[in-house]
Amino acid sequence: MTVTEPLLDVRDLTIAFGGKPVVHSISLSIAPGETLGLVGESGSGKSATSFALMRLLPPSATITGSIRLEGHPILTLPEPQMRTLRGSAVSMIFQEPMTALNPVMRIGDQIGESLLAHHPRTPRAELRARVIAAMQEVGLPNPEQRLRDYPYQFSGGQRQRILIASALINRPRLLIADEPTTALDVTVQAQILDLLRKLRRTHNLSILFISHDLAVISQIADRVAVMQHGRIVETAATADLFRDPQHPYTRKLLASAPTMQTDRSKPLATLA
Ligand SMILES: Nc1ncnc2c1ncn2[C@@H]1O[C@H](COP(=O)(O)OP(=O)(O)O)[C@@H](O)[C@H]1O
Ligand SMILES: [Mg+2]
Repeated sequence: MTVTEPLLDVRDLTIAFGGKPVVHSISLSIAPGETLGLVGESGSGKSATSFALMRLLPPSATITGSIRLEGHPILTLPEPQMRTLRGSAVSMIFQEPMTALNPVMRIGDQIGESLLAHHPRTPRAELRARVIAAMQEVGLPNPEQRLRDYPYQFSGGQRQRILIASALINRPRLLIADEPTTALDVTVQAQILDLLRKLRRTHNLSILFISHDLAVISQIADRVAVMQHGRIVETAATADLFRDPQHPYTRKLLASAPTMQTDRSKPLATLA
């Protein structure tokens, strides 16, 4: 029993497409300020899970079980209330920021649009100030000038920062990050992980960090849930998972995480 009420509480969540289950009765919870890693190979049901949490799965999906976010029953909430929660209580970032950004809209307007979605009457000057502050917070250079630029004028890492600024401008308590660094090279990946760690600290943000790469997850997660073929086979504190993996699949993932040996700043690395 934990003393703190979980921010997110998922019980027996099952997701099926066309009658075929791809997520089988998974349960997980995230405390305020906690980062939970969700690891598993491609096709194991990680993204289906994250879309279910945002209630953004297509109508063809059948979902059972329960998802509670700050006590709200996500699976049965009326759509207007769900729309209020999306962006303001829970936000999501993806692997390829370009697909989430509008290529013909200035990035300042895109970040501002996220704020306006929840605070439509924000005065122009305040909107601009909030956008600039959001860009500063995620480390985008020269926000006053660059807010007029378009997504293609930014690097992959900067585009992910734009998405993070957009996702966090309404101060959600939970950020779902679905393979946010997978498309980035190792150096930029490390910078984005740094940024997420900083934002988590500053805002007591909870994060569901999804990746197929256990080495990446170990750099940010407090606890890790291991997913295989739509089932969570093991959940443990990150250090415990490395020290004493219980499930054969976890051991397999540990053995096939080559980047772990290269990161000498992490004591966990030597355990691999
Ligand atoms: N919209 C969809 N319609 C049908 N099948 C889907 C849909 N989305 C995902 N799937 C299937 O669900 C399974 C899990 O996919 P996904 O959650 O994307 O895995 P992961 O993110 O772990 O790589 C895969 O077999 C995938 O083909
Ligand atoms: Mg995925």
